[in-house]
Amino acid sequence: MPYVIAAACIDVMDRSCMEECPVDCIYEGERKLYINPVECIDCGACEPACPVSAISQDRRVPAELREFVDDNARFFTQSLPGRDAPLGPAGGANVVGPLGVDTEFIADYQPGTA
Ligand code: F3S
Ligand code: F3S
Repeated sequence: MPYVIAAACIDVMDRSCMEECPVDCIYEGERKLYINPVECIDCGACEPACPVSAISQDRRVPAELREFVDDNARFFTQSLPGRDAPLGPAGGANVVGPLGVDTEFIADYQPGTA
C-alpha cells in the first residue's frame, strides 16, 4: 500500500521527504509534493522525515483526507495543466524536476475544505 502526501504539505513543501526516498518517487508540484503510487515501494522512510506529518500510508489516511489518496495518483494518471500526456511512472523526481503545476484539486484547495 503506497504512502500518500496530504493537506499539511500544501504551501509548506519542506522537501525533507525527497531526500529519504530510495526510489525518488516523490514529485514536486506548485503547492505540494505527490508520491507516485506505482513507483512507491512502501518503505516508509519518508513519513518520519516530514516536519508537519503530511505523509502516511494510504490505508491510514484519516477519513476527512481520503481525497488525497486519489489525488496523489491523479497527479500521474491525468494530464496536468500545460501537458499533453500524463506523467505516468516518470522514472524519478530528479529526472523530471519540479513540475510547477498541481492537480485541479490542489490548485483550488482552501484549508479546511477537504
Ligand atoms: Fe511536504 Fe513534508 Fe515532504 S511538507 S515536501 S511532505 S517533508
Ligand atoms: Fe519513497 Fe516514501 Fe514510498 S520513501 S518509496 S515514497 S514510502
